[in-house]
Amino acid sequence: MDRPQVEAVFFDWYGTVADIGALVVACEAAAPGHGPELAARWRARQLELTWLRTVMGAWADFEAVTADALATALSELKIDAAGAALARLASAFVELPARPEAVAALADLRRAGLRLGVLSNASRGMLVIGLDRTGLRSAFDDVLSVDAVRRYKPDPAVYRLAVEAVGTGPDRIGFVTANGWDAAGAGSFGLRVAWLPNGAGQTLPRVGAPEPVVAGWPQLVEVFRPRSLPS
Ligand code: LAC
Repeated sequence: MDRPQVEAVFFDWYGTVADIGALVVACEAAAPGHGPELAARWRARQLELTWLRTVMGAWADFEAVTADALATALSELKIDAAGAALARLASAFVELPARPEAVAALADLRRAGLRLGVLSNASRGMLVIGLDRTGLRSAFDDVLSVDAVRRYKPDPAVYRLAVEAVGTGPDRIGFVTANGWDAAGAGSFGLRVAWLPNGAGQTLPRVGAPEPVVAGWPQLVEVFRPRSLPS
């Protein structure tokens, strides 16, 4: 059965367009010898807090959640980062660079005539800084933050923001993420998901969501604007 043509493609920000691998460098600078474990723990606690706060109906924006998660990770790992090092670390999320392959793919998708957007857990303020620093502000038509619904992904209300922005059905909207749980949430809502696993061995959560298309950055144009075969 033919599916309708995709009109717009939305991107997750942290871990997808913004390279979260760079967090390790910032963590290593603040806590020498602990970079990888601190970065991993920080991110895990950050996501956990977003899910808890959404289920509990206890909103705090991503800036606050990210700071709380950092304090928790430091205390759990018994790392005593203080003063200037801690202040620098706290802003590491907004300073993450964009993946070069993401920048290239965005240009290709734009040339293919697609409307492009960001749909992120980040607060509006964090997104604006991240987009300015990476020079990607003009790559996107829509910049959507969960601030508008005060709930975090994978709550359906977040993915609905893309539907409302474009004014079309979810089956005409693509969504690109490297986060497996985000792929599951977006697919379950009904968006057309391309999952970009960052390395081997990653699995999708077993939550009964439709299987996403598994792709790499260079294949996104083909996924969302397949060339029609000559008849
Ligand atoms: C975001 C988180 C999920 O940018 O990485 O939405």
